Amino acid sequence: MFLPNPCRTFLVTPALDASRFDKALDVGADVGLLDLEDGVPPALKAQARQLAVEHLCRTGARLPLAVRINSLRTADGLRDILALLESGARPRVVMLPKVEAPAEVQQLEELLAPRMPDVALMAIIETPRGVEAVDAIVTACERLRGIIFGAADLSAQLGVPLTWEPMFYARSRIAMAAALGGRCAIDSPFFDLGDPQGLAAEMLRAHALGFTGKIAIHPQQVGIIHEALKPSARVVDHARRVLAQADDGKGGIHVVGGNMVGPPLVAAAKRVLASVQPDDDDEPVPLRIGSRAGES
Ligand code: GLV
Ligand code: MG
Repeated sequence: MFLPNPCRTFLVTPALDASRFDKALDVGADVGLLDLEDGVPPALKAQARQLAVEHLCRTGARLPLAVRINSLRTADGLRDILALLESGARPRVVMLPKVEAPAEVQQLEELLAPRMPDVALMAIIETPRGVEAVDAIVTACERLRGIIFGAADLSAQLGVPLTWEPMFYARSRIAMAAALGGRCAIDSPFFDLGDPQGLAAEMLRAHALGFTGKIAIHPQQVGIIHEALKPSARVVDHARRVLAQADDGKGGIHVVGGNMVGPPLVAAAKRVLASVQPDDDDEPVPLRIGSRAGES
């Protein structure tokens, strides 16, 4: 019931074309996300469910694939969960959208426990009620490993623009709740496919609040998100010096490169070094994005 590691990007594919289902992994996303919810029109829900379930039965838990089902407050959500249970499909992660109360996550956990003991759950927080209840949702059950912010739904429900400032309270609240519960926080998709700089800037700002990944809606967003999450060479170098000079097992205050460093900053330096990925020395990806969502 652990999330794939690393878990910086979930690349969404509406579950409508089975030939595309593993593409997310080919383009370097950490997790491929088969969507049964808002990426699938109501008339195609049954077809998408069948394609996703068949694919997940074929791949087993071998591949880092997640599935976003419909809300369990809808008939489609109930159908999704029954289809998963009855088919024996083994996604690594099940994402539940529009969660507004811990009981929804607990219901999903109880339904999945006998047949899918290993699957990790993630809750998408994207309604005002969900934001209000996020502290309780994040610790609803052990199997819930992370929470995801859904800015598109939240901005629509609030009737406000989908820009940084109106979403700032919800993002901060979600990041704080995730830290409180020891779960990861994954940021909302960035919807302007023609603005790679905006995507990178949003990832940097969300990361600064505590988010450790983002939903990607186009293959070319994946590298940009990974790049934005990479600690800079200067930050890594400073973290190494902090550990070399201040992590002496005795605690107390040291001066490293002109900065006072005590236990919280030693812990922060360890976090920086733990976040360095094996591919972090690769060339940065160019900030360019192609045309259509889901293309690869
Ligand atoms: C994602 O589901 C969103 O609403 O932003
Ligand atoms: Mg949504």
